[in-house]
Amino acid sequence: MARSKRRPEDLRSHRWLGAKDLRSFGHRSRALQMGYSRADFAGKPVIGIINTWSEINQCHAHFKLRAEEIKRGVWQAGGFPLELPAISLSEPFQKPSTMLYRNLLAMETEELLRSYPVDGAVLMGGCDKTTPALIMGATSMGLPFIFMPAGPMLRGNWHGEPLGSGTDSWKYWAELRAGNIDEKAWEEVEEGIARSFGHCMVMGTASTMTSVAETLGLTLPGAASIPAADANHARMASASGRRIVEMVWEDLRPPGLLTREAFDNAVMVTQALSGSTNAVIHLIAMAGRAGVALGLDRFDEIASKTPVLANVRPAGKYLMEDFYYAGGLLALLAELREGLNLECRTVNGRTLGENIAGAKIYDADVIRTRDKALAIAGGLAVLRGNLAPDGAVIKPTAAEARLQKHTGPAVVFSDYNDMARRIDDESLAVDENSVLVLQNAGPLGGPGMPEWGQLPIPKKLLKRGVRDMVRISDARMSGTSYGTCVLHVAPESFVGGPLALVRDGDLIELDVAARRLELKVSEEKLARRRTEWRQRSTPYARGYGALYARHVTQANMGCDFDFLHDGPPTPDPEIH
Ligand code: FES
Repeated sequence: MARSKRRPEDLRSHRWLGAKDLRSFGHRSRALQMGYSRADFAGKPVIGIINTWSEINQCHAHFKLRAEEIKRGVWQAGGFPLELPAISLSEPFQKPSTMLYRNLLAMETEELLRSYPVDGAVLMGGCDKTTPALIMGATSMGLPFIFMPAGPMLRGNWHGEPLGSGTDSWKYWAELRAGNIDEKAWEEVEEGIARSFGHCMVMGTASTMTSVAETLGLTLPGAASIPAADANHARMASASGRRIVEMVWEDLRPPGLLTREAFDNAVMVTQALSGSTNAVIHLIAMAGRAGVALGLDRFDEIASKTPVLANVRPAGKYLMEDFYYAGGLLALLAELREGLNLECRTVNGRTLGENIAGAKIYDADVIRTRDKALAIAGGLAVLRGNLAPDGAVIKPTAAEARLQKHTGPAVVFSDYNDMARRIDDESLAVDENSVLVLQNAGPLGGPGMPEWGQLPIPKKLLKRGVRDMVRISDARMSGTSYGTCVLHVAPESFVGGPLALVRDGDLIELDVAARRLELKVSEEKLARRRTEWRQRSTPYARGYGALYARHVTQANMGCDFDFLHDGPPTPDPEIH
């Protein structure tokens, strides 16, 4: 790739390391203090490697090694790599929800890149929220960057059966509660379900968002599907290091790649993967940072013309390792070709169309061709009605067909603790036609919009063989989950959305085909309930939680902070 006309003195880092003044004397002497020689940094692009490694992030356990591989690539290409650790959002461990901290990582990424002498960045992420957070922050900063996805972990295994992260935990937990498996079997599942480093290997939020990042043109072609433990993954890491140095010289800034057309491609791929519902929130937030107005309805418009091609759990049968061997995301993109904007540019300097040229499907059961699609349309659907005036989402491909048009009486839980206390109570007035409703689980009510949207089926119904019911909440759902779960109801109940006014026994109508979610209660009755409704108080009086509570937007706006997508650009720091 030919270099642009950029010279070393045009680099942003030159102001720190190249200038002839007292301040840069200080910066150079401190770089020398760390053992670097002048030859290591003089006139070279400084590449910030934003590493979300942590001892409590199982999905990024290989990131120490991968950071070294990225550095090797940066050195090879004539750059100066500097690893900059950032908060690691570990999906299972961080409470109340990693979603509470997505915007914190985004802010940290943006400010790390701004406040240090960085010319370009490699973003290391993969575990659920880390991908959107890193991309949001780097997009706002506006420097050249490349995303290095963590890669999915290897297939799980139990008694010769492949196990999928999350998805099979829900499945076997239900079987344990129903008395169909014993504690020993449950322990064996626990030992076999997560066999290597890497992110969840179903089409959960992690695989969806890394695929989204690749579709947006922010990774090297093919990067998102490579299993974390595959040697190809290590080579992709060092190739990312080499490429970012070139991108700095070319001044190829991914914010310029993030066009409306690129986001349409990402929405289409999310649908074709039957990807995580969380992608809706993250894509809206990411688009907002790029100055692209992406609304919920665009997801529905694109869903209507997008076949579901990935036969991967939870909507399908296979796992990400199989998806990779079947040709990976490039093969799926090639099959989707006619619906995509192929002219969108990507970090390797080529167009999406050029990158997918020649990609093939090697297993047509895992990656379906259009004529054998899992569903002809609609990996995700957007619902509206008097219960969700600002929208709600459902993943029809993960829901039982018979429940997609259903009217039933509500069984209401006022919050998660109320639900946990009563859901298995034998005296709970519930049957398979009931509609389970969870309130106060949204962006503010959760707080942090936890993944509680797959409400458990009451034990007494599990024992009768019931495995799916209509469930409605303002929460999110793990991308590894399944069921007829209506999620992200907006506005949320905590701020007085209609979900707050539902009472036990109210009839609720769900009609996925008609995109309708209706509370069958008269306006007069609802108005009366509205006057009786009292807002709960936020648990946060101080600190980051208070900042979050003051500024987070609703699900249909992407849950970004209002002050992060509004306002003029932040100036680069003065160097005094
Ligand atoms: Fe990290 Fe699922 S726990 S991606």
